[in-house]
Amino acid sequence: MPPSYRINNLLAEKPLDTEITVTGWVRTRRDAKGNFSFLEINDGSCLANLQVIADDSIPNYDTEVLRLTTGCAASITGMVIASPAKGQEIELKATTITVTGWADPKSYPLQKKRHSFEYLRTVPHLRPRTNSLGAVARLRGALSFACHEFFNQRGFVQIHTPVITTSDCEGAGEMFTTTNLDLDNLPTTAGKVDYQQDFFGRRAALTVSGQLEAEAYALALGNVYTFGPTFRAENSNTSRHLAEFWMIEPEMAFCDLNGNIDLAEAFIKHLLQYVVDNCQEDFDLFCRFIEKNLATKIHNALTTPFARITYTEAVEQLRKSKHKFTFPVQWGTDLQSEHERYLCEDVVGGPLVVSDYPKEIKPFYMRANDDNKTVAAMDILLPGIGEIIGGSQREERLDLLVARMTEQGLDLDEYSWYLDLRRYGSAPHSGFGLGFERIIQFVSGMGNIRDVIPFPRTPGSATS
Ligand code: 4AD
Ligand code: MG
Repeated sequence: MPPSYRINNLLAEKPLDTEITVTGWVRTRRDAKGNFSFLEINDGSCLANLQVIADDSIPNYDTEVLRLTTGCAASITGMVIASPAKGQEIELKATTITVTGWADPKSYPLQKKRHSFEYLRTVPHLRPRTNSLGAVARLRGALSFACHEFFNQRGFVQIHTPVITTSDCEGAGEMFTTTNLDLDNLPTTAGKVDYQQDFFGRRAALTVSGQLEAEAYALALGNVYTFGPTFRAENSNTSRHLAEFWMIEPEMAFCDLNGNIDLAEAFIKHLLQYVVDNCQEDFDLFCRFIEKNLATKIHNALTTPFARITYTEAVEQLRKSKHKFTFPVQWGTDLQSEHERYLCEDVVGGPLVVSDYPKEIKPFYMRANDDNKTVAAMDILLPGIGEIIGGSQREERLDLLVARMTEQGLDLDEYSWYLDLRRYGSAPHSGFGLGFERIIQFVSGMGNIRDVIPFPRTPGSATS
């Protein structure tokens, strides 16, 4: 049996005059005069296709090879030879071709031509077979590895926090309830659903963040991180929001806001550097076809220290600018994405850290600053993306935390376990969450978040 090669390894090793087997999907077939054909084969291991030459010495040349079309799957054995053609060093001279799956060209949704990303969203199960979505999938896998590499190098322990939770970390009430009650026949008490009869004996939901549980582990192990899916039932139909997205959340004991920001900046830079160093072929595709300025943008983000300003300074900058905003800016209201983008793209021209937001617009767990008006929060904004990271130093003082939670109308009994972390061995601690899809958008230049996750879930849409 000749050795099997994946195309990425084959193109790297170039084992000339060796008999090998490759498997993959036909991208194109071109027939030449003199009873032979060129097949472009892609196996997903890399962007490049392998050119295969098939001629009528192959037993099934007339009956099958000449019927191969885009999307067919085949196993091909042949000799690796030097290629006379431009743009490739080797090609495969086939001796046998076994077709394992046909793809009827009358109905196969992917044709040779370039399809729009909108169209490809209608076939989420087939779109990874295209150049750009295949590249995104490899990039996503590489970035996931780079996240673990970064934290592993620094001695952080990965914690698997629960997907089903009973606490609303962000307090925004945007949770998907999980239940096995009969929705057509709900048990009620005094006109309300009786969750005591539900699976967990109480109301539970899909998590919006692993932070609260990560805090418990940080206050035992020191430095931890989570990397998991999170769910938000927010009705935001934008190119930056998903109802199901992945978040990386480090949490550090004995760490203040500045240490938190330093880690966040190092983390983003590590991810960008990893892509530049390890994903060259796919990154080149993004630079050429997706975002013209991508290489410069990434280079700048890598080589420049992130600008750091406070929310109050940001508001001053915005108020004194001549720019016309749809939403007025005043101290105390949340920055809209138009404000964030203006600061990041026009004022700073690169990544920007905004810290110390008014406490009213931030969740209960953020640490109160001495001014009693702001909290030790930080958001990191990226050009073209807006918010990539949200984080804070956490309120470690029991009395202040209880007061804040009471103010926000939270049920202290529900969060009793969380308060225990302040009752027993409390310590200053900090953490943040990085939106995984948004960093993929930033490094690839992909404009719509639906195109950087395999099967996107958005309001009104969930396929597979
Ligand atoms: O700012 P957020 O809501 O912060 C938290 O959830 C904290 N508990 C994190 C922490 O401190 N451990 O979300 C963090 C990041 C955002 O900056 C954004 O990048 C991403 O998660 N994000 C979303 N990404 C895609 N779709 C959505 N609907 C998102 N909501 C937030
Ligand atoms: Mg946020």
